Amino acid sequence: MHRWVPWIAGFSKDFVEDALNRFTNGPGVVLDPFAGVGTTLIEADLAGHEAVGFEINPYAAFASQTKLQAHRADIDRLRAAAREFQEFGRKALAAGTLPRAAPPAGFRTRSPFYGPHVLRKVLLALDFIERQEDARIADMFRLAFAATMVDYSNYSYEPSLGRKSSVGRPEVQDYPVIETLAAKIAQMADDAAWYRRERRGGGRPDGRVHAESFFHGYEAVAQGSVDLLATSPPYLNNYHYNRNTRPHLYWLGLCKAPGDLKRLETLNFGTYWQNAREQGQVEIDPTIEDDEIRETLAAVRGRNPDKGIYGGAGWANYAALYFNDCIKFVRGAKWCLRPGAVALIVIGNSILQGVHVPTDRFLAKIAELHGFQVAGIHVPRGARVGNSIVNSSVRAGQAANGHGLYESVVELRRP
Ligand SMILES: C[S@@+](CC[C@H](N)C(=O)[O-])C[C@H]1O[C@@H](n2cnc3c(N)ncnc32)[C@H](O)[C@@H]1O
Repeated sequence: MHRWVPWIAGFSKDFVEDALNRFTNGPGVVLDPFAGVGTTLIEADLAGHEAVGFEINPYAAFASQTKLQAHRADIDRLRAAAREFQEFGRKALAAGTLPRAAPPAGFRTRSPFYGPHVLRKVLLALDFIERQEDARIADMFRLAFAATMVDYSNYSYEPSLGRKSSVGRPEVQDYPVIETLAAKIAQMADDAAWYRRERRGGGRPDGRVHAESFFHGYEAVAQGSVDLLATSPPYLNNYHYNRNTRPHLYWLGLCKAPGDLKRLETLNFGTYWQNAREQGQVEIDPTIEDDEIRETLAAVRGRNPDKGIYGGAGWANYAALYFNDCIKFVRGAKWCLRPGAVALIVIGNSILQGVHVPTDRFLAKIAELHGFQVAGIHVPRGARVGNSIVNSSVRAGQAANGHGLYESVVELRRP
């Protein structure tokens, strides 16, 4: 099921499987406060745990929730719907039927997102989805559309979303949209049937995702109830989850106007450099009493003063907001975990304005200052554990002092 939705920041299921084997002893509660498209939650649910997540991006939250509910789908009906859909598409295209659906009004792009032939097919597909009476089936169709929608658009991920034409690729004149969606649904039906068979044991509640910020919502989890936290928060690399999912958010009706995106940006872990740089000097929280963290941020702040907020000042603001949000994360984790339980956090380091920022060690220090024990920081050799947005403008390159990029697993224990 991990193939359903491409997510650049997804992490490996093997890491989660291994974590569950090592750190749980019988069925328990597993939490992912930054659930993405649900890798941790699906694996935890499959292994018999109660899976609970938080995810601020409504598209990612929808993807996770739809996956976690897939074992309840009426598979025969879903397969029949995929066949009906192809029939409907064939007839509508042959008859020249005009679609009733319209593109999302608030979604503006520099080039048309879809060419006219593709657009017509997409809108017809949305008409078909609109007619579905079974909400679960409609959601699976919506997810199939969202998961494939960029492929037949005039945009692509490089790794951020941009126009195909600006990387020398041709625009998409036409595409077998209906066939693509029908094939995707057939695959999802097979996977959902597999999921139902594999989901061992009964009695536990379905896995669930709270579509809100963990920082504000963590008290929805019973205090001290979580046996393992396994997550990968946004890295300090300014990968823009919201901009990169704009098409999905608008086309699924999860956002209507730029203000909706702005709200998500503000709530995002560390917010984004684009927001942070505009604020006056952001100070690091006084509870972060650590000379190395403070000196590192001061070093970033001192870089490229001639560039104003686009130089060190803006990036130091971004880093300060990020580390201040680490406190919120740690506070929420402390609330949720039972005493003695472990939190595993996959995180990458950063190089900001040429200054190496060992985000993993800094997060560990902040957790320690807020009452956690640091059981270890593991840098897995060779294996990919987390998201590898290594080509992002922030992470690329080597710091002056020879540090490269790496990802590590911070292991914290709640005393
Ligand atoms: C690195 S990704 C997680 C990927 C996940 N491990 C997977 O395999 O799909 C980080 C996620 O954190 C989410 N996020 C950012 N700020 C958040 C917040 N305050 N509360 C909950 N989720 C947040 C982002 O939208 C993003 O999906």
